[in-house]
Amino acid sequence: MPIEFSRLSFVYNPKSPFQSSALNDISLLLPEKQFIAIVGRTGSGKSTLIQQINALLSPTSGYVQIGDFINHPEKKPKRPKGLNDEEKAAFKKEERRIYQKHKSKDIKALRKRVGLVFQFPEYQLFEETVEKDVAFGPKNFGVKKEDAIRSAHEALLRVGLDESFFQRSPFELSGGEKRKVAIAGILATSPEILIVDEPTAGLDPAAAKETMELFTKIRDAGTTVILVTHDMDLVATYAQMVVVMENGRVEKTCAPSELFGQDLTQYSLQNPRIFDFALRLKQKGLTIDTEGIRSVNDLAEAIIRSKQNG
Ligand SMILES: Nc1ncnc2c1ncn2[C@@H]1O[C@H](COP(=O)(O)OP(=O)(O)OP(=O)(O)O)[C@@H](O)[C@H]1O
Ligand SMILES: [Mg+2]
Repeated sequence: MPIEFSRLSFVYNPKSPFQSSALNDISLLLPEKQFIAIVGRTGSGKSTLIQQINALLSPTSGYVQIGDFINHPEKKPKRPKGLNDEEKAAFKKEERRIYQKHKSKDIKALRKRVGLVFQFPEYQLFEETVEKDVAFGPKNFGVKKEDAIRSAHEALLRVGLDESFFQRSPFELSGGEKRKVAIAGILATSPEILIVDEPTAGLDPAAAKETMELFTKIRDAGTTVILVTHDMDLVATYAQMVVVMENGRVEKTCAPSELFGQDLTQYSLQNPRIFDFALRLKQKGLTIDTEGIRSVNDLAEAIIRSKQNG
């Protein structure tokens, strides 16, 4: 299920003193079954963008199409003046295609297909026990109670929370554990698109790595994974495509390797440390091919190659 943004803009609190324009004229195609990273400085619009994909927010203008679901503004735009008959007919046809009324069951179906783990997992937890919290999603989507509990247990084990957590209150957990519960809650519903907003914040390095590897496995099984992050090391290691946001706009869409080596400080981002290290070696005179270096292993191999050749 690809995701296509078409000239989408979004304003928070329109026509109020708190009005703030968060997304500006976004046109973007996110292909299916890929590991996609969305990066950009604080306040650049990443969280606002992903909330359009499962219709938690709806555009102010433009639209985003997710499979056969189109998330569109509440109000239809006015027809521009001065169109000829043919253009009027085309406008009307496009309007009919985009502005289909959503029934609540359509939105529910969309949210089953698009799972979103919030940046602040606290917002997502509300049941008295971890088990109930994680089983809520599948139950809500019509799965029988016992099956929902079974899915919940599987999802919890996948994120690294064992049985001792099942009956605990989600509110008494540490930040990292809460995040794991929130991720399990989404995994339990087996979405086709998994969107995770800063999923490794608050996790220790081992748990962060396990979580990222879990997402990679999920992608390998055919799910689209969309990762919002500031961490370019994660982008280097895991992403196949990266979208750079700046000031509510998409600045760049490319493969991670195309991004590294450019001046990323203009977006308040840094090159992956491993890539910077490779560049430094090159500047110091080592003949080394920095292209495609994404991990410690890649760098080690590049150094060995350089030694063998020289
Ligand atoms: N609920 C809200 N009401 C009003 N303005 C908001 C709201 N949420 C975000 N904004 C504004 O919209 C813009 C984009 O915010 P958003 O949360 O999408 O950024 P972000 O890229 O996710 O940032 P971060 O990296 O800090 O999470 C910012 O200017 C922010 O102040
Ligand atoms: Mg955010």
